[in-house]
Amino acid sequence: MAVIASLSEQRQLRSEFAELAERFFEENYPQKEFRPGKDPVPASGKVLDVEDLKNLIDASLDLWLTAGRYTNQFERRFARFIGSRSSLLVNSGSSANLLALSTLTSPTLEDRALKAGDEVITVAAGFPTTINPIIQNGLVPVFVDVQVPYYNIEPKLLEQAYSPKTKAVMIAHTLGNPFQADVIRNFCNAHNLWLIEDACDAIGASYAGQSIGTIGDISTASFYPAHHMTMGEGGAVMINTQGLHKIATSFRDWGRDCWCDPGKDDTCRNRFGWQLGDLPEGYDHKYTYSHVGYNLKATDMQAAIGVSQIEKLPRFIEARRQNHAYLLELLLDTQDHLILPQSTPGSIPSPFGFAIGIQPDSSIKRDDLVRFLESRKIGTRLLFGGNILKQPGYQNIRHRVASELTNTDFVMNNVFWVGIWPGLREEHLEFISSSIHEFLSKGRNAS
Ligand SMILES: Cc1ncc(COP(=O)(O)O)c(C=O)c1O
Repeated sequence: MAVIASLSEQRQLRSEFAELAERFFEENYPQKEFRPGKDPVPASGKVLDVEDLKNLIDASLDLWLTAGRYTNQFERRFARFIGSRSSLLVNSGSSANLLALSTLTSPTLEDRALKAGDEVITVAAGFPTTINPIIQNGLVPVFVDVQVPYYNIEPKLLEQAYSPKTKAVMIAHTLGNPFQADVIRNFCNAHNLWLIEDACDAIGASYAGQSIGTIGDISTASFYPAHHMTMGEGGAVMINTQGLHKIATSFRDWGRDCWCDPGKDDTCRNRFGWQLGDLPEGYDHKYTYSHVGYNLKATDMQAAIGVSQIEKLPRFIEARRQNHAYLLELLLDTQDHLILPQSTPGSIPSPFGFAIGIQPDSSIKRDDLVRFLESRKIGTRLLFGGNILKQPGYQNIRHRVASELTNTDFVMNNVFWVGIWPGLREEHLEFISSSIHEFLSKGRNAS
């Protein structure tokens, strides 16, 4: 019969796995030299090191698999990093947005609960899953135009977008550039609206000294590889307003009323002592549902990578800032043709990508430039769905348009972005710049 290893034997075996991980990582993931034009310059990517691999192995050796010790650690550390009251780990940034908005539909919020038919102000130049939870919850998105070259909501249009049905604002800090948080927050306070802050692209940014992710009542992060730190797949909801943590936990964990961690029973010490809804007295609290919820949890392996990634997050953010500043400097002389990105006044962005617009009176075409860069293996991305209302999946959604979407259409037709993520070095950025310069000097026939 197999004998279970003692704790010290287990520790020894774990450290042997860690040593092997070091060897494996060193031999299989060396830093490669960059060959311009031959090697890709991706628009985004992940930066992993041996500590991430070691944590991943350590978590998998537990064979716990569901949310566990690493999840608890990560949720505490991430909330501390952001400065939020708490954070909840979920399986993607999209799930985080769904959870954030669904939380605000809880009947326990009484007259502040979002109800079907209520309106939520947002932008049509947003990422789809910033908008989708509004639609999925039977609410009505109200679309407002954005500002060029900040690519965030135009705050001057908020009052015009407001109606007695408006109950919330749900918007992102586009490409890591903060929206005008003071104006938006004041507008929400004045009309008693919830603010849901999609910080998926902006972890580490600040506005007027306040950390992005702490401005909304509830905010969200993504840990997909393109983002400031990664778990492969993953996301978080950050809670800043009292009372929302318990509701969000319920919606994340099947809608249940019980708050036991996976594998635990009777945390409330009253498991068979409750009477809720029309259930019989003493019905198992573990199977009592106070919300129509989801299961949006992540695994402990994802959390384990999060725990090692968060250590590097300040370094990643700094590298993004430096890369963004360097590319901006390299492209300063292109402004006859190109609209370069600008930080929202009063903010310190945490850049996600480098936005480039085509000047309205330039003869060059965005799509020609994009194709030229792609032909040189320089990755490009459009600003998400452009005008989401023009997307095939959104033709029949219930919505209201609060202003002309002129700049939104401009974004759809004339804007794209390239990478500045920490895996790119000066040589990559110089190649992006020299390629753009070459295209501009030859005009549209450069390809
Ligand atoms: C602003 C914004 N919100 C939400 C998401 C969704 O995150 P995820 O890919 O983790 O679902 C993204 C994805 O890039 C995003 O850019």
